[in-house]
Amino acid sequence: MFKKALISILILLLVFNLYRMVFVKNDQHSNELLNASINKDTSAWVGPSHYQIPLATQKNGSLIQYGYELIAHTALYLGPKGTVQHSTNGMNCQNCHLEAGTKPWGLNYGSVFATYPKFRERSGSIESIYKRVNDCMERSLNGKALDTNSKEMKAIYAYIQWLGSDVTKGKKVKGSGIEILPYLKEAANPTQGKIVYLQNCQKCHGANGAGAMDTTGKMYLYPPLWGMHSYNDAAGIFQLSKLAGFIKNNMPNGINYHTPTLSNQEAWDVAAYINAQPRPSKDKSKDWPVLATKPVDYPFGPYADTFSSAQHQFGPFEPIAMAKKNKQ
Ligand code: HEC
Ligand code: HEC
Repeated sequence: MFKKALISILILLLVFNLYRMVFVKNDQHSNELLNASINKDTSAWVGPSHYQIPLATQKNGSLIQYGYELIAHTALYLGPKGTVQHSTNGMNCQNCHLEAGTKPWGLNYGSVFATYPKFRERSGSIESIYKRVNDCMERSLNGKALDTNSKEMKAIYAYIQWLGSDVTKGKKVKGSGIEILPYLKEAANPTQGKIVYLQNCQKCHGANGAGAMDTTGKMYLYPPLWGMHSYNDAAGIFQLSKLAGFIKNNMPNGINYHTPTLSNQEAWDVAAYINAQPRPSKDKSKDWPVLATKPVDYPFGPYADTFSSAQHQFGPFEPIAMAKKNKQ
């Protein structure tokens, strides 16, 4: 009798522990996924669709339409086989500014027209929309700046203006730019990130991160993540927090901020793996003229603090952020 009861208790304990091993770890993961959508108390701003661009017969209609085309299919005009000039690496603005800058937390352009010109610490100057567009030309597209008076620049400006024309001046709409994820306690881990990459990203972006062209050979079907045709090391997305935030809400391609599939940890780790791979380099000596304004995750010294470059590259970022705050 006593023996039977003891065996039953032991079996119960075993089952309970097995349950914990299988489900509780997964639970943490799903809570994290859930939080990502609950924390945002209101839903996001979505810009007008390109189908709503004014007709060619209306004021600026064709200029806005051309601006949309340049954002969505940049390579066809400015890429290595472009029809206007060959001044970029072949990526499209839309590869990062998803759905031509209208996807929430997909590097959305919603607040651009309302908040520029504005002072930016990276250049230490007041930047116009033209300057900001050219920043991405020279860094994200590893290319040459457009002439401010060119039809192309005027068209991109007209499109961005049209997109943000219903946003109150000075206001940042929900869903613009990238969502910055909470910092990890530990440094992000590129070795773990490689495993995430192989399982979730490689099938489109390729084993060597080079992406793949579409059948015309003029534009990417899957854009490169590293290597000579990718963004250079002066690009905003070379900061780990920006890449991790972009990936969490947008990749694997097709998901959105309501339906992330990676945990925050996985997003940080895969971002660390990607940004540890080789890519073009750009002169950065004039960036961040005031050292103390360098972001915590900016991997190039000199710094106003004593943390190592490695910690500025992979974290943990919390101690750097705390030290920065205490100095102010
Ligand atoms: C490799 C990814 C990538 C590509 C390609 C790219 N950008 Fe960007 N862009 C970024 C990142 C990252 C930021 C910074 C966003 C932030 O800090 O919130 C940014 C910011 C901007 C901003 C300012 C947004 C804001 O809300 O302040 C504009 C305008 C812009 N990009 C235009 C362009 C244009 C035009 C192109 C194509 C010529 C382009 N970008 C291509 C990654 C990219
Ligand atoms: C189903 C194919 C697919 C998968 C899987 C996928 N991506 Fe992408 N990715 C794309 C496409 C397509 C784009 C460009 C989107 C566009 O132009 O609309 C993109 C764009 C990107 C960009 C911005 C552009 C660039 O080249 O720098 C990053 C970063 C990125 N993906 C990272 C990832 C990561 C990390 C994973 C795995 C977690 C992943 N992707 C999984 C198809 C995919």
